[in-house]
Amino acid sequence: MPYSDYETALVTGASTGMGAAIVQKFRERGLHVHAVARDASRLAELAERTGAVAHVVDLADVDTLEAELGAIPADILVNNAGVSATGNILDASRQTVDAMVDVNLRAALHLARLLLPGMAERDLGHVINISSIAGRYNFFGHTAYHATKAAVSQLSRQLRNDVLGRRIRVTEICPGRVETEIFGRNLGGTPEAMAEAWNTYYEGFESLTVDDIVNTVDFAIDAPRHVNLGLIEITPTFQVPGGLTFDRRDA
Ligand SMILES: NC(=O)c1ccc[n+]([C@@H]2O[C@H](COP(=O)([O-])OP(=O)(O)OC[C@H]3O[C@@H](n4cnc5c(N)ncnc54)[C@H](OP(=O)(O)O)[C@@H]3O)[C@@H](O)[C@H]2O)c1
Repeated sequence: MPYSDYETALVTGASTGMGAAIVQKFRERGLHVHAVARDASRLAELAERTGAVAHVVDLADVDTLEAELGAIPADILVNNAGVSATGNILDASRQTVDAMVDVNLRAALHLARLLLPGMAERDLGHVINISSIAGRYNFFGHTAYHATKAAVSQLSRQLRNDVLGRRIRVTEICPGRVETEIFGRNLGGTPEAMAEAWNTYYEGFESLTVDDIVNTVDFAIDAPRHVNLGLIEITPTFQVPGGLTFDRRDA
């Protein structure tokens, strides 16, 4: 079974949501886990609870990313950290555009650049990239989020070309709506914003839970060695991607 092939994993965005839950699952599976995020106290709690190694790193800071994470002999890399924003390109700020490019895409590229050579040398590895249905479908949301998530899809497919011939698997997990803090963060991250986001995006809906994502990651990794699950799109049953909008021309 592939889990027994692997010793070490690195998970970004590990302080909460899907990332923290993936760390816990990997620890239960017996892996040595490096957990990356900015929130030191949450990471300390996770480390205490699970035995993971905490790395307090802002992924937008490439120098620190490289120095702190670049030499970790990760057999599994989970590019999970992600940020979004309200609005679209018409009212975007420089900071939100940069944050989405830096965290959603640039950090994933740098971690691949830094960690894949070791996997190639050991002839063993699995990269899991958490994208979004925003990267596959057009609907109202932040343009930079859609664009960076589409790039994560392309990155996932392209990495397979880079490591062809080696026993390295790459899986893009493409979720629809999952119950996490992401929408509350978009609204400011305060307790009031979290409550508002819960009421707007989750209350009364049957969204995915982080356990659904964890089970999907677990399934992809636990597949037999010769099986690469390239793309897994997972949405709530009541959420349908796609659609077409045809607005009336202004008078
Ligand atoms: N929830 C959804 O409905 C949904 C749907 C589709 C895809 N996704 C994607 O799923 C992934 C996980 O999202 P989530 O919903 O679990 O989000 P979340 O609850 O908001 O968690 C985001 C994680 O990313 C970390 N992070 C953000 N900026 C960072 C930075 N500059 N440096 C290091 N870490 C950073 C956060 O940690 P710190 O704040 O401690 O740094 C946190 O651990 C993301 O890629 C997201 O785009 C989410």
